[in-house]
Amino acid sequence: MIIYAVKDYEEMSRKAAAVMAALVVSKPNAVLGLATGSTPVGMYGKLVEWYKNGDLDFSQVSSVNLDEYKGLSGDNDQSYRYFMNTNLFDHINIDKARTNVPNGLAEDAAQACEEYNEIIRSMGGVDMQLLGIGGNGHIGFNEPSDVFEKETHVVDLTESTILANARFFESMDQVPKQAITMGIKNIMDARKILLVATGEGKADALYKSLFGPITPKVPASILQLHSDVVVVADEAALSLIKEKGLL
Ligand code: GLP
Repeated sequence: MIIYAVKDYEEMSRKAAAVMAALVVSKPNAVLGLATGSTPVGMYGKLVEWYKNGDLDFSQVSSVNLDEYKGLSGDNDQSYRYFMNTNLFDHINIDKARTNVPNGLAEDAAQACEEYNEIIRSMGGVDMQLLGIGGNGHIGFNEPSDVFEKETHVVDLTESTILANARFFESMDQVPKQAITMGIKNIMDARKILLVATGEGKADALYKSLFGPITPKVPASILQLHSDVVVVADEAALSLIKEKGLL
């Protein structure tokens, strides 16, 4: 595992973008596993900037996103499809037909999950999976649980995640209570993992995930078993790890 300890959000964004850009340069038809949340926004901004400078070409890249809220359509401004379009896809030369986000409106969600697994397989797997981390250690929407869910599935969001998401919605009853997410096996199958974290709110989750016991109670802890993980985190997110003398 490589841990890049950076100063702040700006540096995290630049470093994480550089890790992903290196892949796109060396493998123009890379399959990118992408993530939402506020953490990667700055990183996506950097990728857009470098594309506009002529340094990156996404014309042969394809992508698969981690998760989507159940019940939201892609043009709802809180959906993860909308997020990806507005933060990245609309500003680079990626072919949108090659970008995949789970369908939050599928009538048969179980079937939609199966189809999503099939899409990932048909792309030949994910070259690099970007991950943020929830304050409770969740990745994608794999919430703390008694078991690691393997593949794409429908999940009931925990109270803490619903509360964390509430800031983006006008009222509590608009906050989705369920999501469709890739499972832990889908994530672990990626050839490389890029985990980004910023701020003190992630310090505990990051410490437990990188140095604590491997347990589905802290879903990101499974990443300790992956052989190619790059973590880019700022001082605040690494504060507990540093305090314990582990870095
Ligand atoms: C949501 C997403 C996760 C993301 C997490 C943290 O739950 N499903 O993929 O990592 O939020 O978000 P943020 O980066 O805004 O802290």
